[in-house]
Amino acid sequence: MIYFDNAATTYPKPKRVYEAMSKAMERYGANPGRSGHKLSIETAVQVYEAREAAASMFNAESAEDVVFTSNCTHALNFALKGVLKRGDHVIISDLEHNSVSRPVFTLSEKGVITFDVASVDPDNDEKTVNNFKRLIKRNTKLIACAHGSNVWGLRAPIQKLGDMAREYDVLFLVDAAQTAGIVPIDIKKLGIDFFCTSGHKSLYGPPGTGLLITPLGSVIDTVFEGGTGNMSGSMAQPDGMPERLESGTVNTAGIIGLGAGIKYVSEKGIEHIYKQSMQIGRTVYDGLRKMKGVRLYTKSFREGRHLPVISFNIDEVMSEDVTAMLSDEGFAIRGGLHCAPLAHEKMGTLKSGAARVSIGSFNTKRQAERLLTAIERIKAKNSSRQPRELTKYEQNLKANKGKNIHKKPH
Ligand code: ALA
Repeated sequence: MIYFDNAATTYPKPKRVYEAMSKAMERYGANPGRSGHKLSIETAVQVYEAREAAASMFNAESAEDVVFTSNCTHALNFALKGVLKRGDHVIISDLEHNSVSRPVFTLSEKGVITFDVASVDPDNDEKTVNNFKRLIKRNTKLIACAHGSNVWGLRAPIQKLGDMAREYDVLFLVDAAQTAGIVPIDIKKLGIDFFCTSGHKSLYGPPGTGLLITPLGSVIDTVFEGGTGNMSGSMAQPDGMPERLESGTVNTAGIIGLGAGIKYVSEKGIEHIYKQSMQIGRTVYDGLRKMKGVRLYTKSFREGRHLPVISFNIDEVMSEDVTAMLSDEGFAIRGGLHCAPLAHEKMGTLKSGAARVSIGSFNTKRQAERLLTAIERIKAKNSSRQPRELTKYEQNLKANKGKNIHKKPH
């Protein structure tokens, strides 16, 4: 199988990640920060090294600002639910994944907050900043923005948005699930108050890992309380970071694997991985652009403005069918809505979904060429076949003009 679904999770992982995780289970199988014996201490040292590696990669003020979470969604929920209070107003972008839009929507349905959606202009950063700025109200507490779209591959101007948020004294949350490890990120320079990312994408850690990095951990509300291994005599949740936001036994093997992934990325070089992935993406992009009967939704593919993520459809074919046919041809890509209905609405693909190719550091140009040949093949097959019957879900989408998107988990 040739894997082009790296925006969902990178695969394979570097060998050192598998080795570090296996070693963590076999050699340091103890609970870090809970006991004073050698194995517990050794495990805690390894977890702390991963914390330091994350702090250093993203220029956090200290390793204690780094909270290990189960994924980016948990990090986002910790931040959003920890900071937003009754009466607050939030602005999110129209590129957001459900991991941001659903908690925000849920809080607004409960009457806790109100929110607005600002449009990210694909070509004009000033317009994007103004789109956010004009939505700021007296009670705006936070701006949340995806650093890069998991559907369009478009990058948002987070330096400019961070500067603007600071000017208006609004907290700034960045969902870096698609950019951490492939775009250099300096949390301090960008003025990010809440930095959330998954560990299993371009940081090459295992699934079940994520990061929340924030200097505000000791003042935001907790979502979970419980055992932290310190101040155990008190019923009150400790204020100290990172324990305050890390109740319960952490995913030791996952975190140590994530630490190994971060080291892999640091050694290979973020800029190098980005450049190499964009070159392979360019082969896919140019190839698709020239193909008749292919609709390319990624409108341009520019270094500095895009990620190596390309969305397209073959005329008259549902995106899930494109991915199923490609799977039969030996290629892994993702179709559907990618848990990001706002981005699909913006792209005009809420009904059809889109087929998405996403490049990782183990892909090659040759693989990209083979993918293009396979797409040509399924295009030819498709033009000679009868249109298939729509599934219940597709009929439902059609009947509801694409609005009833919550019926199928994506
Ligand atoms: N959010 C992930 C994706 O874009 C899972 O596929």
